[in-house]
Amino acid sequence: MIVLDQENKVFTLHTRNATYQMKADRSRVLLHTYYGPRIGGGDLSRLIQYADRGFSPNPSEAGSNRTYSLDTLPQEYSSCGVGDFRLPSIEFEPADGSRLADLRYAGYELKKGKYGLPGLPAFFGGDEWETLVIHLMDSTCKTSVKLFYGVLEECDLITRAVQVVNEGSRPVQLRRCASLCLDFQRGDMDFITFDGCHAQERGLNRSPLRPGVQSVESVRGTSSHHHNPFVILCESGANEDCGTCYGAMLVYSGNFLAAAERTQLENNRLLLGINPYHFCYTLAPGQTFTAPEAALVCSPSGFGQMSRQFHRAIREHLIHDLYEGKRRPVLINNWEATEFHFDAAKLVSIAAAAAPLGIELFVMDDGWFGVRDSDSSGLGDWSVNERKLPGGLEALVPKIQELGMSFGIWIEPEMVSEDSDLYRARPDWALRAPGRPFTRGRSQLVLDFSRKEVRDYVYGAIKQVLGSAGITYVKWDMNRSLTDVWSASLASSRQGELFHRFVLGVYDILDRMRRDFPHILIEGCCGGGGRFDAGMLYYTPQIWCSDNTDAIDRLRIQYGTSFAYPVCAMGSHVSAVPNQQTGRSVSMETRGVVAMAGTFGYEMDLNHTTEEERETIRRQTAFFKEHYDLIQRGDYYRLSDPCAAPYAAWEQAAPGGGEALVSLVYGSNHAAAPFRTLRLKGLNPDALYRVNGGELWRGDVLMAAGFPLPMPTGDYQSLQLYLKAE
Ligand code: DGJ
Repeated sequence: MIVLDQENKVFTLHTRNATYQMKADRSRVLLHTYYGPRIGGGDLSRLIQYADRGFSPNPSEAGSNRTYSLDTLPQEYSSCGVGDFRLPSIEFEPADGSRLADLRYAGYELKKGKYGLPGLPAFFGGDEWETLVIHLMDSTCKTSVKLFYGVLEECDLITRAVQVVNEGSRPVQLRRCASLCLDFQRGDMDFITFDGCHAQERGLNRSPLRPGVQSVESVRGTSSHHHNPFVILCESGANEDCGTCYGAMLVYSGNFLAAAERTQLENNRLLLGINPYHFCYTLAPGQTFTAPEAALVCSPSGFGQMSRQFHRAIREHLIHDLYEGKRRPVLINNWEATEFHFDAAKLVSIAAAAAPLGIELFVMDDGWFGVRDSDSSGLGDWSVNERKLPGGLEALVPKIQELGMSFGIWIEPEMVSEDSDLYRARPDWALRAPGRPFTRGRSQLVLDFSRKEVRDYVYGAIKQVLGSAGITYVKWDMNRSLTDVWSASLASSRQGELFHRFVLGVYDILDRMRRDFPHILIEGCCGGGGRFDAGMLYYTPQIWCSDNTDAIDRLRIQYGTSFAYPVCAMGSHVSAVPNQQTGRSVSMETRGVVAMAGTFGYEMDLNHTTEEERETIRRQTAFFKEHYDLIQRGDYYRLSDPCAAPYAAWEQAAPGGGEALVSLVYGSNHAAAPFRTLRLKGLNPDALYRVNGGELWRGDVLMAAGFPLPMPTGDYQSLQLYLKAE
């Protein structure tokens, strides 16, 4: 609910559990007055203190009043070079070369429903949303800024976006444009980020804010394996179930910067948006720049509630799920079984072993096109390699369908191999700077997706493949970071737009694909989880979580991922043992339990399994299908931190607590282990639950005292408890 106090220019945004407020003061500076647990309202600018602080300058209208300084006031969208020395939200350069931005309040609009952003992914929905637009203006530079706020009350979600318009008669260069600025009139907060590398994505790191700026970013052209565009600021004592915390997510898949600053007044500022690194966007007179959307959830009761609110908002208002209300298929992918070395008979044999076990979709991964026997050739030549697959997809797909399975395919549209017909014909379509040697990544180059003719060609080729056979699933991969970022189609003064234009190009093709093939489920992938972000989720309902398929490593990766992203978004498969990445062997049971914390599928040749393992797989797929709604759409509770506890445990509970599934994986086993109980969450305290069809337990007992855990008898054993209220 948005409440306006027009006289005092106070704007209050209420969600179910939180309140957000800003106010335009007498100088028309837009102050941020409050964000935290829900309160009744009122003008909270009374919280702001004024004092003459040394070296904090005063704007001209303050006259001799030295207590009024932009450097000390909490700002809604911070200015640049005119008195606020903290992180600037925006920086622009008009023709005179000044880099000053002084934004003052110029009006507002209030609308029912949710705003959209041209060419960019954004949360969507109907009248359950309200939109507030605040107009700011730098009247000297004649540049206006619109701040968009979308309020989704039930999910405690507030989205933000920014548009900058050059209202003058000469070009303006935009050098920085954050999507979100959030000033806290409090110190004593922790900054939580999700970091790692290829095959070890999204590990949780938490540290108290110390004076100065702490930040995570990507300059790789993708959101990256290394840092995720999702961060948390929280009270220092906050944990899963208590303490106020603020999650901030960027709905964007390119370079980003998330920076938290502890200020001289021991307050904090959070900034999130496109990374100013190599960013400079020229706005011609009348032109608009739209910054990507950011989304906020404030939870007054810990991380668990924050995550559940993000999960619900993402499931219902960001992902376009063609399987909405239905079940996505259980899949098998051939990558780890064959890599590039397969032919039609091999693929059919993998599918034939999978079909009787309840697996419904066969995905043909990398290696089916061009001359592609290794990762050094073929990318860009999107026609079937008939040496491997005689008769093409028209011959292969019916054989898969005869097994009762549907068919999916892998593509990597953004890339080109030097050894490809496409590169031989159009070497100028790859990103590279004139007169310089270029940098290879996985032996491949990146296509210049800022160019429409490049996108049109690539999309045309892919469209032909997707339309040629009964394809119901696509895995969209991307296997290197961007370097040599220079485009032949942009003037030298506009090369700073290229990183962003590349991302818009990716979104353009994804959008075309979604519209032309609405029946195809797209899974995003970037060498595993190198582009696991809310921007991609708008187009690809699920994303391959990591190239690391080791069940034990996956516990930590999926734990970190779960802070922002729902189970139904996390691509997760059972793979063969010993695991290709770690050499570790764990049981089929445990591998299945871990994969069921995501979209669930298999990535191995099931011809090489024992009858006992096949029986386990049969049970797993049947169990997954039976409890699909609970697993994929239930409320998600983290029951332990797998980095700190001797086990990883999590739970999906139906809203209201009618049923729940508890999953637990032990770490390595030790002699003389203590007796342990596991306290559950999200149950109905008064209900009686039948556990795995056997004993009855009260909900309050399970939540307050816990369930006694059986002693493991070996390493990495697992447990699933299905609870049904009677
Ligand atoms: C990286 C992906 O993450 C893998 O799953 C696989 O598709 C390979 N690329 C194929 O090259």
